[in-house]
This record gives sequence, structure tokens and C-alpha cells, in this order.
Amino acid sequence: MQTLTVNLGDRSYPIHVGENILDRLGEFLDGLNLRGKAAVISNPVVAQLYLDPIHDALSQAGFEVTPILIPDGEEHKNLASLATIYDGLIKARLQRRSCVLALGGGVVGDLAGFAAATYLRGVSYIQVPTTLLAQVDSSVGGKTGVNHENGKNLIGVFYQPKLVVIDVAVLRTLPRRELVAGLAEVIKYGIIADSALFQLLEEKIERLLSIDRALLIQVIATCCAIKARVVEQDEREDDYRAVLNFGHTIGHALEAATGYRQFLHGEAVGVGMAKAAALSLERGLTDRKSVDRIIQLIKKSGLPTEIPSTVSIANLLQGMEVDKKAAGDKIKFVMCNGIGKTRFDWLAPAEIAGGLNA
Ligand SMILES: NC(=O)c1ccc[n+]([C@@H]2O[C@H](COP(=O)([O-])OP(=O)(O)OC[C@H]3O[C@@H](n4cnc5c(N)ncnc54)[C@H](O)[C@@H]3O)[C@@H](O)[C@H]2O)c1
Ligand SMILES: [Zn+2]
Repeated sequence: MQTLTVNLGDRSYPIHVGENILDRLGEFLDGLNLRGKAAVISNPVVAQLYLDPIHDALSQAGFEVTPILIPDGEEHKNLASLATIYDGLIKARLQRRSCVLALGGGVVGDLAGFAAATYLRGVSYIQVPTTLLAQVDSSVGGKTGVNHENGKNLIGVFYQPKLVVIDVAVLRTLPRRELVAGLAEVIKYGIIADSALFQLLEEKIERLLSIDRALLIQVIATCCAIKARVVEQDEREDDYRAVLNFGHTIGHALEAATGYRQFLHGEAVGVGMAKAAALSLERGLTDRKSVDRIIQLIKKSGLPTEIPSTVSIANLLQGMEVDKKAAGDKIKFVMCNGIGKTRFDWLAPAEIAGGLNA
């Protein structure tokens, strides 16, 4: 097992990354000054697989456990599910010293975090992420929230968990398509911050895909450490935290242009990273060899790198202009400055489109 820390003063917290560690939850909770009741937020798919060990571990640690299930799927990351969670928390009479535990992917994590941030003006919450995306990305850093019919993640708050417990053994049951989508974020960390990670992925991506647990622990801990360092520098994304959006400006636009039905988030980010790398080459910020390596690795992991011919560039531009990272008529775009390095450029949507046509 590896343990790292997100250092944010009195809001610091540990991240434990290991194999078959769910039954050690009680030990990890020790010292957090929590007692009484614990609500486990999950969905029926994940609860069927992993609620029992979590329930047992919490009971043994002296908590009275209440599971609260919300329906599976991104379309349920909304205010209605949040209402279900509040109802459950109130019915179970959770108090200030109680805790909320998110057991699931990013959807459950974002909902549970937001509920914890707002119930009784804030109770402690624990992240137990069960998708690769949630393990390397959404469970760390404290972004919580829900979607609105007019856009994704429009309602939310920054609220850090007290603890993150990552058990790589749960990835065994994750559908392969979801696993591959999570790899997009892993590759992203290599490109933006860590050329050694990138090289490791080039050599061993097949072993990751076949759930090599020791390798997963190493890679996930590396990703969490990178995210932790970024969040420590700029918790509320005033500036630098936006490096985590590498490949996401085009990725988000592609998801929106295809009605959120054709691509999983990570798949769209695969395309977005390939295009952002090409754009960086075009603007003289990186060399062709790096761009070739990036595109090769994205392809090797099983992710797409091309915008489908059915999606018009005009449609994509529309998506970018409403992107919340936009300011004025230019978009803050994360460029690749060689593998392991980034820089920001402010680009007009038309300049980005030029790169997409290339
Ligand atoms: N808060 C953040 O910083 C942040 C960062 C990135 C993404 N997100 C959010 O995360 C969400 C996407 O998260 P996701 O990709 O984890 O999707 P998800 O939560 O929808 O999970 C994907 C699917 O996998 C299933 N599943 C989860 N764990 C499983 C397991 N171990 N075995 C079998 N099935 C399992 C889920 O039930 C679901 O059907 C989006 O809403 C996105 O906005 C948040
Ligand atoms: Zn992402």
C-alpha cells in the first residue's frame, strides 16, 4: 500500500492506494474524530459488488451504517438525486460528527461530496472511488457538484474529503470501456507533468489494461501525487489548476456536440489530447516526435484520436465558446510544451478550429 497526503493546511488528508484494503477502513478512519452514524452513498451496480465489505468495516469500527442509493448514470447527477440523498441523511439523523462515504465512480463522488458540503453546513466525507477515472481524478481535489439541464457541473462547491481510500482490486469488475476511458486521464498526467510516467505507460499499457495490481498501485499513486501537487498550488482553479484541463477544451466540446451519447468523457479527452498536441506542434511549442508518441500512446490504450466526420467544426466551436473556462473572446488553452511540460495560451476559437482542420 502507498499513502500520500494532500497538503492543504487544516484541510489536509491522506490518500491510501492499495489492494484489498476496503476492510481496513476502520483503521484509516481512526483519529478523524468521527463517530455515530455513517451514510454510504452508492448506486445499485456498485452497491451490489462492494457495499457489504464497506458496511462490515464501518460496523466493526462502531458506526451505525445507512446506505443511500441513487440510480446509476451521469443523467442522475442532478438535483433530484441530491434531494434523495438529503432525505436519506435527514431520515437517518446524521449529525455533525457523522460521516458520508462515497462508494462509486465520479458521479457518486461528486453528488456525495456536494451533499456532505451542504448538509448541516458541512459534514465529513470519505471517498472510496471505484472507477479508474475516479481513482486518479475526481476523488482527489475537492470539486463537488451536480449538472443542470443547461450544462455539466454548473452547480457545485469546493469541499475536500477527509480521506481517500483507493482499492485497485475493484477495477476487476469495471467494464473495459470504462477502464480505457480512465486511462485517458492517466496519460494526461504523463503529458502535463511526468515524462517518466509517460514512458512507463508506453512500455506497460497492456499490463495496466490486464489489471496488473502492483503496477496499478504505482501508476494511480503517481497520478494522485501529481493532482495533489497541482491542487495544493491552486485549490480553487484561479489559474494553474487549469493544467488538468489538457485535452479537455476540445474533449468537452466533442462530448457536447455529440449529445453526451457517443463518447465517454475519457474517450473525448483522448481525441482532445491528440488535437491539443497537434495544435502545440503547429504553434512551434513541441516537436513532431513528442506529438507522434502522444498519439501512439492514446491509440495503444484503445482510445480514439480523431474527430468523427459527422461532427462539424462549427458545432465544436459553439461548444468551446460556452465553455466556462472562456474569458472574453479567447479561450485559455493548455498547450503541450514537450512531454511532461505545459504552458497556457489564449486562443480565439477560430485559431483552435484552424488546428482541428489541419
Ligand atoms: N470532481 C472532479 O474533480 C471530477 C473530475 C473528473 C470527472 N468528474 C465527474 O466524474 C463523472 C464521471 O465519473 P466516472 O467516469 O467514474 O463515471 P460513473 O461514476 O458514471 O461510473 C461509470 C460506470 O461504472 C460503474 N462502476 C463504477 N465502479 C465500478 C466497479 N468497480 N465495477 C463495475 N462497475 C463499476 C458505474 O456504476 C457506472 O455505470 C462525471 O460526472 C464527471 O463530471 C469529476
Ligand atoms: Zn477529465
